[in-house]
Amino acid sequence: MNKLAYGMVGGGPGSFIGDAHRHSINLDGLAELKAGCFSRTFEKTIEKGKEWGIEEDRLYPDFETMAKAEGTRKDGIDFVVIVTPNVSHYPIAKAFLNAGINVSCDKPLCFTSEQASDLQKIAKERGLLFLVTYTYMGHVTAKHAKEIIRRGDLGKIRSVVAEFPQGWLAYEGEWGGKQGKWRADPKQSGSVNCLGDLGTHVENAVATMTGLKIKRVLAKMDAVVPGRVLDDNDFVMVEYEGGATGLYWTCQYAIGHDNSLRVRIYGENGTIQWFQEEPEKITVISRDGTINELHRGYGSIAPDAAKYGRLPSGHPEGWFEAMGNLYKSFINCIKAKRDGSFKPEMIDFPTVDDGAEGVRFIEACVKSNLNGNVWVDM
Ligand SMILES: NC(=O)c1ccc[n+]([C@@H]2O[C@H](COP(=O)([O-])OP(=O)(O)OC[C@H]3O[C@@H](n4cnc5c(N)ncnc54)[C@H](O)[C@@H]3O)[C@@H](O)[C@H]2O)c1
Repeated sequence: MNKLAYGMVGGGPGSFIGDAHRHSINLDGLAELKAGCFSRTFEKTIEKGKEWGIEEDRLYPDFETMAKAEGTRKDGIDFVVIVTPNVSHYPIAKAFLNAGINVSCDKPLCFTSEQASDLQKIAKERGLLFLVTYTYMGHVTAKHAKEIIRRGDLGKIRSVVAEFPQGWLAYEGEWGGKQGKWRADPKQSGSVNCLGDLGTHVENAVATMTGLKIKRVLAKMDAVVPGRVLDDNDFVMVEYEGGATGLYWTCQYAIGHDNSLRVRIYGENGTIQWFQEEPEKITVISRDGTINELHRGYGSIAPDAAKYGRLPSGHPEGWFEAMGNLYKSFINCIKAKRDGSFKPEMIDFPTVDDGAEGVRFIEACVKSNLNGNVWVDM
């Protein structure tokens, strides 16, 4: 089958993540950008569309017009990529699902669990695929952690300690640019800032690697930097079904940390340490204390993870490749749906169900914090 066609909402001039999605999709050449509404300002959409060689009649002034038009065109897009601030994820995703178009949406999925359930329901009813781009889970080494926990190398998981500190919003005023500004604005970000931006990654990383389901949470969420109204530091205690426990920390004013998502998983037979800033390796410590540092590109990596590698060992892969790996599975699943060979077990990317878990995690933490840092069931 030929390349798929995709469209993008968001990703206009000066934006951050839209370009990353385009570069990542381009890695495998399986889909081509054919339509877009890249900004709320139509002139900016036209500017970007021309730069990227998109036909003018497929550049749209707003996402509603785009969903309607692309959903009815014979050569309409196969999927849409949503890379706008959090406030608009829900209406945009809903509009494209209702137009019969598969969706890739950045995290957090939406604001409320009702919205999340609605998106889950529509996607299921219409038989559409829905990728939520928890980018880090595309790394070969993250997939390796998932595989070896699933095959039982660590035995029963006892505890997880995971953190995601950043330092870029440690300063008052303009530091952080427009990306920092909307994240700290409740109108654009909803009821949380840091927990939605970073905590959902932590929640998803632990859930993906371990398969553990959160039973309840206890959260202490604070707005520390003067002028902030939304959280910029969160401590969350977690209890999983089955009795394991976890501790999550996310922060945006931790000067010295760039993007330090770190996961440590402690099982009865060993420990895994996985740090996203060093994604080419994973440390596995066995019960007798032997420390194994495994590197992507070698036979020690589980085959279902290793198959995503694009380069030989020592030729560093990174964040674009991780996102590209999510898209590779997503696009291949769309193609398989088209040719009738699709099976649910082919899905190797975070879905709308994973996105919904992230939203439920946020809601439970907010409730815990508002009620005086008490345990709240998920
Ligand atoms: N997966 C990750 O690791 C990761 C990393 C960074 C950001 N994100 C997520 O990506 C999303 C975008 O973040 P960003 O930092 O790129 O933001 P940004 O401010 O850099 O870009 C947002 C873009 O969306 C456009 N936009 C806003 N509303 C629109 C609308 N209604 N229609 C069309 N275009 C619209 C803006 O003009 C801008 O071009 C957020 O949800 C964020 O949480 C995910």
